[in-house]
Amino acid sequence: MTTRVLTGITTSGTPHLGNYVGAVRPAIDASRAADTESFYFLADLHSLIKAQDPARTQRSTLEIAATWLAAGLEPDKVWFYRQSDIPEIPELTWLLTCVAGKGILNRAHAYKAAVDRNLAEGQDADAGITAGLFMYPVLMAADILLFNAHQVPVGRDQIQHIEMARDFGQRFNHVYGGEYFTLPEALIDDHVATLPGLDGRKMSKSYGNTIPLFASPAELKKLIFSILTDSRAPGQAKDTEGSALFQLYQAFATAEQTQAFARAYAEGIGWGDAKQQVFERIEREIAPLRERYQALVARPAEIEAILRDGAQRLRARYATPFLRQLRDAVGLRDLSSVTTVAVQATAKAALPVFKQYRHTDGRFYFKLSDAHGKVLVQSQGFDSPRDAGQQVAVLKNADSPEQLQSSAWALQVPTDQVLAALAALRQAATQV
Ligand code: TRP
Repeated sequence: MTTRVLTGITTSGTPHLGNYVGAVRPAIDASRAADTESFYFLADLHSLIKAQDPARTQRSTLEIAATWLAAGLEPDKVWFYRQSDIPEIPELTWLLTCVAGKGILNRAHAYKAAVDRNLAEGQDADAGITAGLFMYPVLMAADILLFNAHQVPVGRDQIQHIEMARDFGQRFNHVYGGEYFTLPEALIDDHVATLPGLDGRKMSKSYGNTIPLFASPAELKKLIFSILTDSRAPGQAKDTEGSALFQLYQAFATAEQTQAFARAYAEGIGWGDAKQQVFERIEREIAPLRERYQALVARPAEIEAILRDGAQRLRARYATPFLRQLRDAVGLRDLSSVTTVAVQATAKAALPVFKQYRHTDGRFYFKLSDAHGKVLVQSQGFDSPRDAGQQVAVLKNADSPEQLQSSAWALQVPTDQVLAALAALRQAATQV
C-alpha cells in the first residue's frame, strides 16, 4: 500500500539553516522513499493569521517555494502546491467546522497561550485574538483530511493539531455514518537535529539568532565567525559537548568528517580555524542550492506555473471528486435527485394507519383508516390494550377475504379496499 505523507509549510519569514536541517532536507529525503505519495504545500491561508502585509505575503510565498525547489523537491514526483489554489480546502474547512467541538478548539495551545497572555496583562481574555487564530486547527485538519493523509511529519508543537484533525475526522465519519476520512498520524523524527543558533540556543526566528539559508558567502562567513565560543586558546583541547559550532558542523558532515573534527577539537584547534572549517563545510552543501534559488527567484512566473500545475492536477485527481462525495454525504445535493425521496414521502403520507385508543366505556379499540381519515375497519371493544394489539397483528397479516372474516372487527368498506390498504402498509414496511 502507498503511504500518503503530507506536510504544510508556513509561508512566513525567510528560511534559515535551522529550517533547512530540521524540515526541508529531511522532508526532501523522505519524499524519495519508495511506496510513498508525498504532499508538500505552501500554507498561505494559514499565513494570513499572522501576516497581514500583502506584499510580504506574496514575497514570502515566492521565497519559500523557491527554497523547496532549490533544495531538490521534484514537482513531477511529489504533489507540490499552494493551499489557496485548492478551493476545496476552505470548503472542507466549513464542513469540519460544523462538527468540530468548540471546547476542543478552546484548548488549542496557540489560542490558549494568547488568552493567558491577555489575562496576565489584565485584559479581556480574547483581546486582539482573531477567529482565524481560533480556527487554525480546523483549517489544518482540512489540509490533511482532504487528501486522506496517513502520516504528517511535524514538529512536537504540532502534535495537538494532528490529534484534533483525527477528532474532527472521526466526528464527521460518525455523524455521517461512513469511513470518509482516514485518521492521520503525526510523524516525529527524533533523529533530526535541532540546530543551535548564533548564541547556542535553538536556532529560531523568535530568538533572533538565525543564519539565513541563502545568505551570501561573505555574510555566511561573518555570521559563523560570530558564533559564541569559550575563551580557550589555540593548542588547548576543546569540548565538543555543548559546542554550537560543533553541532553546526555535524549537521552538514558525514560521520567520518565529524569524527575528524572531534579529533581536531581534542588536539586544540583554534576557534578561528574551527570556524573556517564549519563555514567551508556548510558552504559546500549550500552553494549549489543558493545558485538554483537565485535563478528561480529571478523567474517567478515559472514558479507560479509549477504551483498552478500542481494544484490543477491534484484537484482533478483527489480534491474535486472527494469534495463532491462529501457534499453528498452531508446533503448538499442536486435537488433534482430529491424526486424519488419525495415520492416515497408522499406515498408514506398517503398510507392507511392503525390507531389504538380507549373509549369512554373503558374498553380498548382499534381502527384502520385511510390517509384521509376514512375508517376502513372498526374493531369491537377489548378488555386490555394487549388483546387489541394482538388483533391488530392478525388483521395486519390478513391477505385474503377469508382472513378478513372475524368477530373481532367489522369492515366499513368493501373487502377488496381493505385488502389493498393492508397490502400497501406491508409493502411500505419492507421498504424502510
Ligand atoms: N501548522 C504547521 C506549522 O506551523 C503548518 C501547517 C499548516 C501544516 N497545515 C498543515 C503542517 C498541515 C502539516 C499538515 O508548521
